Amino acid sequence: MLIKRTADIPSSEITSESIYLRRREFMVRSGLALTAAALPSGLLAEDGTPLRPLKAVSATPAMSVSGFYTDEKKTPFDDVARYNNFYEFGTDKGDPARYAHALTTDPWSVQVDGEVGKPGNYALEDLLKGIDLEERIYRLRCVEAWSMVVPWVGVPLHKLLAKLEPTSKAKYVEFTTLVRPSEMRGQKSRFSTIDWPYVEGLRMDEAMHPLTLMAVGLYGKELPNQNGAPFRLVVPWKYGFKSIKSIVKIRLTETQPKTTWQQLAPSEYGFYANVNPTVDHPRWSQKYERRLPNSLFDPNRIKTQMFNGYEAQVASLYKGMNLRRYY
Ligand code: MTE
Repeated sequence: MLIKRTADIPSSEITSESIYLRRREFMVRSGLALTAAALPSGLLAEDGTPLRPLKAVSATPAMSVSGFYTDEKKTPFDDVARYNNFYEFGTDKGDPARYAHALTTDPWSVQVDGEVGKPGNYALEDLLKGIDLEERIYRLRCVEAWSMVVPWVGVPLHKLLAKLEPTSKAKYVEFTTLVRPSEMRGQKSRFSTIDWPYVEGLRMDEAMHPLTLMAVGLYGKELPNQNGAPFRLVVPWKYGFKSIKSIVKIRLTETQPKTTWQQLAPSEYGFYANVNPTVDHPRWSQKYERRLPNSLFDPNRIKTQMFNGYEAQVASLYKGMNLRRYY
């Protein structure tokens, strides 16, 4: 797997992480040579299959773009993969790690339609073909006021969209999560308030922003199912609920998509959902966040930053907009 890195990231960040990936064809098809690099014995995929060794490719220097990496302490893998929101598997933070192993993620296809020149039902590996994977270390700030620092692996969404050839009518991108109640127990629950599928959306300029990533991995490994395998959105300056998981549909539209949380509680969750410590959630303050890992005795409370610390990169997208109204 080719992971680009910029000059501003210490090589230890990447080269020290060996990259072990499951046998997804897109990695092979994207031109990666396999090596016989040995895996630590006993390393298994979520479904219990032994992982096959894939080459850890040395990073290719790319243009340095500010915001791609934070040098804040990364949240340990165990916390990133065990404290999750993925309501398709239940509402408890431990439910996704407990139940998401049941999800079949290979093969995976993504329906692309709407205002694009290249609509179709793409196998994930074909969709990603020809686009180099990059590592990004981003803050993730949930609307519930907890946060993490996650080293993602993925492709910039703008590169993917360029491949799909948006028409001049494309103003928004709508993303849809898989519906498969047989493997997603939360979708069967009588207590679920969500009208499945989970849907999210971005304005076109937000989707084209260099920080917006389609992730396929984290910590140099494929995405754990509970983190949205095999393909999810990551928009680091927005509350985490915008970063929709396990995507099966991408639709380009002229009109603003109707998104899950906005439909469910419009006075609490807006379409934009930009991280903003000056606009409180109606039921709690957004001024501070708990940075994981934390505990009852050490809440690790830190100040929330405007646009989650990406103000220099993204504030211009919202020039002249009333962010109290468009929350
Ligand atoms: N995507 C889907 N399909 N279903 C969900 O419940 N939860 C969102 C987002 N994406 C969610 C989702 C919320 S509220 C957050 S904070 C992030 O996923 C959490 O991502 P993580 O579990 O990888 O940290």
